[in-house]
Amino acid sequence: MSSSFLHQRQQQQQLLSNPSPTSPRSLLNQQRSTISLFSRTGLLLLLSLMVVLGVFFPWIGVFSGFGSNQSSDLKWREYTLAEAVSFVGKNNGSVIVCAVSQPYLPFLSNWLISVSRQKHQENVLVIAEDYATLYKVNRKWPGHAVLVPPAPDAQTAHKFGSQGFFNFTSRRPRHLLNILELGYSVMYNDVDMVWLKDPFPYLQGYHDVYFTDDMTAVKPLNHSSDLPAPGKKGRTYICSCMIFLRPTSGAKRVLKKWIEELQLQPWSKKAKSNDQPGFNWALNKTAGEVDLYLLPQAAFPSGGLYFKNETWVQETKGLHVIIHNNYITGFDKKIKRFHDFGLWLVDDHALESPLGRL
Ligand SMILES: *[C@@H]1O[C@H](CO)[C@@H](O)[C@H](O)[C@H]1NC(C)=O
Ligand SMILES: *[C@@H]1O[C@H](CO)[C@@H](O)[C@H](O)[C@H]1NC(C)=O
Ligand SMILES: *[C@@H]1O[C@H](CO)[C@@H](O)[C@H](O)[C@H]1NC(C)=O
Ligand SMILES: *[C@@H]1O[C@H](CO)[C@@H](O)[C@H](O)[C@H]1NC(C)=O
Ligand SMILES: *[C@@H]1O[C@H](CO)[C@@H](O)[C@H](O)[C@H]1NC(C)=O
Repeated sequence: MSSSFLHQRQQQQQLLSNPSPTSPRSLLNQQRSTISLFSRTGLLLLLSLMVVLGVFFPWIGVFSGFGSNQSSDLKWREYTLAEAVSFVGKNNGSVIVCAVSQPYLPFLSNWLISVSRQKHQENVLVIAEDYATLYKVNRKWPGHAVLVPPAPDAQTAHKFGSQGFFNFTSRRPRHLLNILELGYSVMYNDVDMVWLKDPFPYLQGYHDVYFTDDMTAVKPLNHSSDLPAPGKKGRTYICSCMIFLRPTSGAKRVLKKWIEELQLQPWSKKAKSNDQPGFNWALNKTAGEVDLYLLPQAAFPSGGLYFKNETWVQETKGLHVIIHNNYITGFDKKIKRFHDFGLWLVDDHALESPLGRL
């Protein structure tokens, strides 16, 4: 699929989806009902509307093959990761990736509002974990979602700690590796995050992999940017929630090691693991050969620090960049906590999301 095709669809979509996703006919009706045809403005508006429709109708004709949702959905089934990455990565080398299944759509929207406020939304690629998500995102925001088959079992895939959850989070390092191999830098984010500032200026220097510490203990503001010392379990507690990688051999080495670790220590009933320990072992085992960079805690605090230590939050006011709503489980609890801290943006600011109101 060419990116010019996507461009056109996007413009067409924008025209038709304002103020709500409608057909040109109902757009006309809406205008008619509110503006008197006999007023000067009314006539002018009608005239310009006719011009606009005259200009855009040929397109609608061209795309009538994909006119209904169902037939354009079929198109997205064929959309490949390489096509999607070249579409979202065209302005800059960096691609911002998240991986989302249907239950997480409100979080996706919330995160996207915060990313849009920093003007980085055009570089976002949503890796859809199910077809419903693929279609929903691309209908509202063409080209910004891709599904890398096979789609994991959606029923079990979103329960934290389950084997299904492990199965689908363990696909992420492979997606990231594929993006690096296409020559792009990539930032991965969990969608239970909110950007308060632009994180890109914090990706200083030219290191291979940038990450954040998931520990809650307060560190000095000038803490080292080296990989921290291992904790109680013999490994570090680096978060797999926010990672930035450059398309270097070092970064690829870390991802390959991470994939290997996930295969070596598969999910078990006893451990109920997620993908994070594997990431930490991968960092531990590649640390000597790869240029790793720990981002500042004050800018990228864990949820266990930001939401639980008010003194620290006051002390570091103005320094926070991305807030992660972790150290809590359950959708409702996460939403309530975001609400309580003024970080649940979807209720009042849905229109700032490229997905609009869901
Ligand atoms: C492009 O990416 C670089 C990091 O690779 C970043 O510093 C810069 O802010 C990005 N610009 C845009 C417009 O995304
Ligand atoms: C997870 O993956 C394993 C190995 O591929 C498979 O046997 C299992 O059925 C999957 N489980 C779920 C719940 O997706
Ligand atoms: C941080 O600052 C303190 C006090 O100014 C200093 O003793 C310490 O060496 C610094 N640490 C690092 C990692 O630069
Ligand atoms: C890797 O883990 C081992 C075992 O916990 C530890 O002894 C070693 O210091 C770690 N290496 C690095 C670079 O963190
Ligand atoms: C909370 O933050 C304050 C200020 O940084 C720090 O002195 C204190 O140890 C922290 N409390 C906990 C429980 O970590």
